[in-house]
Amino acid sequence: MELHFILKVSFRASSDVTPASDMIGKYLEEANRTILVKGAAEGQGAQVVKWNVNDNKIELLIESGRYVRAHDALMRLRKPLAAKLGKEFRIGLRGIEVESFIITMPAEKPLKALKIPYVNSIEYENGTIKLYLDVGESEIENRVPDRILTLMEDKIQQQSYGGKAEHWQLLWQSEKREHKFSEDPTQAMLKAGWLKRGASRGQWIHGPQSTQMFRTFERIVLEELLEPLGYREMIFPKLIPWEVWQKSGHAKAVYPEIYYVCPPKTRDPEYWEEVSDYYKVTHEIPTALIKEKIGEPIGGMCYAQCPPFWIFLQGETIPTDEFPIKVFDRSGTSHRYESGGIHGMERVDEFHRIEIVWLGTKEQVLDCASELHEKYMYIFNDILELEWRKAWVTPWFMAQEGMTGVSAQSGAGTTDYEAFLPYRGEKGEWLEFQNVSVNGTKYPAGFNVKCQSGEELWSGCSGVGLERWSSAFFAQKGLDPANWPEGFTKRVGKLLKGIRFL
Ligand code: SER
Ligand code: ZN
Repeated sequence: MELHFILKVSFRASSDVTPASDMIGKYLEEANRTILVKGAAEGQGAQVVKWNVNDNKIELLIESGRYVRAHDALMRLRKPLAAKLGKEFRIGLRGIEVESFIITMPAEKPLKALKIPYVNSIEYENGTIKLYLDVGESEIENRVPDRILTLMEDKIQQQSYGGKAEHWQLLWQSEKREHKFSEDPTQAMLKAGWLKRGASRGQWIHGPQSTQMFRTFERIVLEELLEPLGYREMIFPKLIPWEVWQKSGHAKAVYPEIYYVCPPKTRDPEYWEEVSDYYKVTHEIPTALIKEKIGEPIGGMCYAQCPPFWIFLQGETIPTDEFPIKVFDRSGTSHRYESGGIHGMERVDEFHRIEIVWLGTKEQVLDCASELHEKYMYIFNDILELEWRKAWVTPWFMAQEGMTGVSAQSGAGTTDYEAFLPYRGEKGEWLEFQNVSVNGTKYPAGFNVKCQSGEELWSGCSGVGLERWSSAFFAQKGLDPANWPEGFTKRVGKLLKGIRFL
């Protein structure tokens, strides 16, 4: 069974269309041979299979396959028909009334119960899914049926993939190294008093020692990579409104992992007095009452770090000689609602990252990515002396939109950097500790950024996760400076003392 559309619909006219019956019949017959099959393979176009005039209504039954979809056919019919009715009969077309719209699509298995806007019901029978749409004129004009179809096709495809079969392809692997340490580094740091768990889920408080290590990693990135390559520091916002995620694509799928942000309904102290009084008397936070007094979520806390930067460039045309533009941000935390269970510092709900962003022509963007890869290679091989590898993976911008596979734009995609973790053993999972991505035209297009020359703009980004660097480095090298590579020890300088407790 192929994709099939059955649309029962009528055009509403300004007066009785009976006198125009003959003309309408001829017009539809001709349309069936011309505009409704244009652009489709033989026998694959749309057809008006039945029609009728009824007072001021022209009733149509349109059937189609994938190519000229029934609702597109309706749009193709409208304008020329309106012109004819106006010219020959002084009758206007007022609107469209959809009686029923059924899409039948092939699917091996039924889908679980779903709630989809503008879909009344979904039935499954003998390898086909039947969608009963509840759409009107404006939904058809706004291509809602196509979006519903794409959504359903994605769901069917996901189901037959059996979850997340993410793409992973090894690109490069370092030499094997001897590791003098085989403990879980977070546990070791806890014991050594370098850090403590924060009060919030998946959150850590880094003591002076751990912070010193983070700052050393940052300094390495600054001195060995960002400064020589000419990156300029910026400060990106950390509260992300929906608008940003609508343009970045995150609005498609990121909901289970967002830390949502809700503003107070008002900042009038009287409105909140009840809450403070409740707390003062009971010493308990009346969260249900607070929930009543805050507004809908306006967005969430920083998740991917680079998306809010694009508001800076949004709608601008940039002089050609500005490119490549190279910037970075390290001004705050990123937040993800991670899976439950006890994790170390390698999986956290709140983390620190240097986010590096560049944009320019495709060629410039690919060159910037190569430069970064080269610098990282030096840092991980010669300064940190890690055992690590690089893999071509599902691009983060697709993964975060709930997709698997690889990018459709050639040259675009994500390289993950992964480190061996001795405490997990030879067969254990390696840790993704940073990435380098060429994001194609996605961001300049999504935020409408243009180059003066008119040339297509591409962009890239690279996230340096400090918790991840720490987890990788200390898992391989341990906490004893005697076992650290000289390049690192030298940059750390004198070790800071921690805070002691009795
Ligand atoms: N923005 C990219 C990500 O979220 C790189 O940091 O993975
Ligand atoms: Zn990014």
